[in-house]
Amino acid sequence: MDTITIAMAKGRIANEALSLLENSGVLFSDFDEKSRKLIFTDNGRSIKLIFVKAVDVPTYVELGAADIGVIGKDVVLEDPKDVYELLDLGIGKCKLAVAGFPGEKMIDKPKLTVASKYPNLAKMHFEQKGLRTEIIKLNGSVELAPLLGLADCIVDIVETGATLKENGLVVLETIREVSARLIVNKASYAMKTERIQQFIAGVKKGLEVYS
Ligand code: PRP
Repeated sequence: MDTITIAMAKGRIANEALSLLENSGVLFSDFDEKSRKLIFTDNGRSIKLIFVKAVDVPTYVELGAADIGVIGKDVVLEDPKDVYELLDLGIGKCKLAVAGFPGEKMIDKPKLTVASKYPNLAKMHFEQKGLRTEIIKLNGSVELAPLLGLADCIVDIVETGATLKENGLVVLETIREVSARLIVNKASYAMKTERIQQFIAGVKKGLEVYS
């Protein structure tokens, strides 16, 4: 049987995705959240699982270091890669939103300063609305930007809303819903078609149990 390598986004998606894989009959009994190990092998010894930073998942898949990736649609849209997107896993659900102080009037500004981990999506969103922006790329804790006067608002993902709430911020506008996707390297799909299709069929079955 062909061995396949899955690149999994570390963090919010990983635990749900591992439960989903377990429901599909794929078990990584050597997996330990606290371990610093980066590569795990499933009990059937035909699947390797690597944990990488979310933004790096599409790169691993596009360049063929991983056959399959599990990654949020937010990352896929921010930096589109030449890969197949074959399945919406329906997990890791959150929304991409504009957030800021309650009552923030974005249209009143001659130029809006926006902080985001998603500079391309932020730019696109405000361009479509005909608003002039200066985008500040940050890599985390984006909510700090309005609090410290670095930006008028942020574009970020909101899951529970707790981070916004605890920092006195609100969603000003929802851009889109996002969820985790299964992406596949194009050459891998051509060379390991049966194996990858079998894996995806298993995941689909797992999804029925999961939902
Ligand atoms: C994400 C996102 C928000 C937060 C939203 O950050 O950028 O800060 O989670 O989640 P909530 O609505 O459930 O509070 P993440 O935890 O990935 O950390 P980061 O800010 O360091 O990127």
